[in-house]
Amino acid sequence: MKQVIDYTKYLRKKQKNPNGFIDPSKSRTYMIFGNKGSGKSSTDELIAQKNYEEGHTIMDIHSASNYESLFWAICHDCKKQWNEWREKNNKKPVQEREEEQTHCNCSTRYPILLVVPDYVEIDQSALDIFNEKFISKEKWIEKGGNPEQFRIQKRHEDGHIYTEPRIDPDYREWIKVRKLHVPNKGFKNREIFVEELTHAMLTAQKERRIFVINTKFYKTVDHKLVTLEKMIREIPEIVSSHFKPLTPEEVGEMRKIHRPVPFDQMTPQESNYHRVTILMREFGSLVAQQLNEERNQVIVKKAIFGIIKIIRQFRMSGIFDAQRYGDVYAGVRDQRDCLIFRRSNIDIFPKDYEWFRNELKETKEQKINEIGFEYANILYPNIEDLKDNQMYVLYPEKTPSGKRYNLFNVGMPDFHHRQEDDDFEQLTGIKKENALAKGTWRFVSKDGEGKLLDSQRDIQNEDRKLQEVKLQQVYETAYRLMHPIGTAKKMKADEVYEHLKTVDLIPEGWKGTNNLRVFMTRMKGKIQKFGQQQTT
Ligand SMILES: Nc1ncnc2c1ncn2[C@@H]1O[C@H](COP(=O)(O)OP(=O)(O)O)[C@@H](O)[C@H]1O
Ligand SMILES: [Mg+2]
Ligand SMILES: [Zn+2]
Repeated sequence: MKQVIDYTKYLRKKQKNPNGFIDPSKSRTYMIFGNKGSGKSSTDELIAQKNYEEGHTIMDIHSASNYESLFWAICHDCKKQWNEWREKNNKKPVQEREEEQTHCNCSTRYPILLVVPDYVEIDQSALDIFNEKFISKEKWIEKGGNPEQFRIQKRHEDGHIYTEPRIDPDYREWIKVRKLHVPNKGFKNREIFVEELTHAMLTAQKERRIFVINTKFYKTVDHKLVTLEKMIREIPEIVSSHFKPLTPEEVGEMRKIHRPVPFDQMTPQESNYHRVTILMREFGSLVAQQLNEERNQVIVKKAIFGIIKIIRQFRMSGIFDAQRYGDVYAGVRDQRDCLIFRRSNIDIFPKDYEWFRNELKETKEQKINEIGFEYANILYPNIEDLKDNQMYVLYPEKTPSGKRYNLFNVGMPDFHHRQEDDDFEQLTGIKKENALAKGTWRFVSKDGEGKLLDSQRDIQNEDRKLQEVKLQQVYETAYRLMHPIGTAKKMKADEVYEHLKTVDLIPEGWKGTNNLRVFMTRMKGKIQKFGQQQTT
């Protein structure tokens, strides 16, 4: 007789270890692919958070211009709210309750080190408010303080009394800001760049902060790309000279017990203290195969390829996401350890992994015969039907039980994951200034003392150089038209001027042919010199 088995247990089956694919004790590269909104970023964050909790220094260095990478420092207590919601709704059928709860599940936050270019000025007062530096009246009273003394009373020399806010004793600097120069032409500021980067990384390690860079704080895409490229190139060297595994003696000192702690008695945080995890969100946009490639995109791509190849050598880990597997070119993606598929439409699912789809299909068909469609479908969902909390993880090698992949039910990170409608500026009061509205941070060209910033000087030098190149081009074009080789008709200054107009080569400030005439005479000497240099 056929045995009756209760397969409904699969419905409620809780994975023994939902994060079993994450291994902070090893250097690992995770690549996550899937549709927009399928949960790639939240998976990035979940893995990074696990690595962080086990001692890694996390560098969240690429994300879209929406402050997503700053959400580490935000907690909305979504978990509590959802628990309350569940209690209130506990009369509803289980199915309905479960369906309603794919939301953020935050219960905590993490301190970040926000690394920005030297031309970014953030009001300390805005950071203080965000960091809740000063105690609120409610909290002061709640703690038994006298409402009258909620602010500290002080007396001026002239006897005049004034008040100052009181620093909250529980205050934590959730967002701390550090400056990092934008690499200039020829990377002449390499020394200071490396120094600042090293300091920032060591601060993140020591203060257990997430190192965060966000596109929002860069004036141009080029600045962001060149910063990213140089960082990626410099990080391995910094890691190899400054992030060494702790010795038993060092751990003893850190614990203040002044005797060595053997390796097998170290906590995971101590044994992984030297590990660095690099997280790049929407990494597909940086290493896309067919891209209308700007020069800087090419150099970033090369740099990323370079670092991914050597990541293990430096005991680092990497987390990268992209929508399409095809977006990431083979040389880069072949370096992954764990390949993670979030919900992916058939048209973005890679041909290289047809074997996986086929294997899934076959196993599922087999299971349908055994246990029926409903349960088989729960155990082996199609890749395009994965739920918000599901994903397939393909392992680098077969597991001891012969498995090449596994379905995981994953949670959300413990901090507030940026929801589609979340507006960071509204949530935090850290707001970019624009022509129409005053904000709490802005791009500046001078420092607090009115001194021109290095970056501004670099920009001016580059503008000047660009200007020179352009003038050179104007001269050469005009000269060729006025002194044509062969039978071409010689043009008059008026005609040349008109021609320059149509090819958009009229320099700023020119009003008519006269400017051209004066310019041609003045440039003549310079250009001849230039010509001589070229032939030698
Ligand atoms: N593990 C999960 N459990 C429940 N909901 C999730 C999970 N991961 C993501 N989500 C939901 O999906 C939304 C989109 O996730 P996100 O990671 O931002 O997607 P992507 O980066 O792929 O565009 C999240 O805001 C969240 O509401
Ligand atoms: Mg995303
Ligand atoms: Zn939340």
